[in-house]
Amino acid sequence: MDVDLVDTVTLDLLREARETVRSSPLGVINTPLIPWCQTTLPLNVRCSLHIKLENMQRTGSFKIRGVANQFANRPKGGHFVTMSAGNYGKSFAYASQHYGSKGKVVMPETAPVSRSILIKSFGVEVERVPTNSLMTVVNRCVQEDNMTFLHSYDDLDLIAGHASLGLELLDVIPEPDVVVVCCGGGGLLAGVAAAIKLSGCDKTRIYGVEPEGACTMYKSFIENKPVGMETRSIASGLAPPFAGTLPFELCRRYVEAVVLINDEEIEAAVSTLYKSGLVVEPSGAAAFAAIVSNKIPELEGKNVACVLSGGNIGKDELANFPD
Ligand SMILES: Cc1ncc(COP(=O)(O)O)c(C=O)c1O
Repeated sequence: MDVDLVDTVTLDLLREARETVRSSPLGVINTPLIPWCQTTLPLNVRCSLHIKLENMQRTGSFKIRGVANQFANRPKGGHFVTMSAGNYGKSFAYASQHYGSKGKVVMPETAPVSRSILIKSFGVEVERVPTNSLMTVVNRCVQEDNMTFLHSYDDLDLIAGHASLGLELLDVIPEPDVVVVCCGGGGLLAGVAAAIKLSGCDKTRIYGVEPEGACTMYKSFIENKPVGMETRSIASGLAPPFAGTLPFELCRRYVEAVVLINDEEIEAAVSTLYKSGLVVEPSGAAAFAAIVSNKIPELEGKNVACVLSGGNIGKDELANFPD
């Protein structure tokens, strides 16, 4: 990787991105960061736990933060293409409608049809293709139809936009001991970790959380380069086939470690959160799952912040989870 790109991620750049996100016409929300005890559900953890409610974010996930900064830094009225069946696709479609730009989402044909319907409702074109030809179709759109590709996790503007979450967190807890963030391609984790460390919180330990069946960043840390794998997890947002290159470089600089959880632990976390009054999707519950399953070392007595990254889950899916 071009090491210079990692070095362009400075506190000034992240603060500027935060202003862009804050003043975005997309209406990005400074989401609440609340102490767990406010939920009134007892929890067996011996730390002071705060949760950042990105499930209450516009479009239902943090992705709108990065998308707001991506669109602000691209030519108005462009024709964009992306590849996503999930929260990025929803935020991309919402932004396309708002900016009046033409957009296309290439998604795997295995994605729920309801996803295509939702994304199309924002006026964006959807093409459903076999998973192994997603990139070929995106490349065709770029080369033959002159569209601009927007990446859903490996993009400097996107990551800088996600960093706004980390800066907001520090407004409430200026020096957290531990921050726990889920990881898919690594854009969110990289942005939040860079924001916290570049703000001078040298002692804060930042942990990434991945499902056992989709642990590309974990493997990338071991192999010391961004790697891919065949992924499988109930947390589909955390299961892209590759760790991002820029996210990997930022995570290896700013993240303490990546810990793993299994799908049962994720399901249990979704249920616990639901009982506390919070609708959180499996990907969004992963960081919380790692805390309650004791996967994060040395939490006792610490000030801990946990990101609940998204809440896009239907009641049909929720009904399958344990009580
Ligand atoms: C709710 C949720 N959390 C986390 C992630 C992972 O984000 P990243 O790919 O930036 O690591 C996603 C990705 O779609 C998501 O939808």
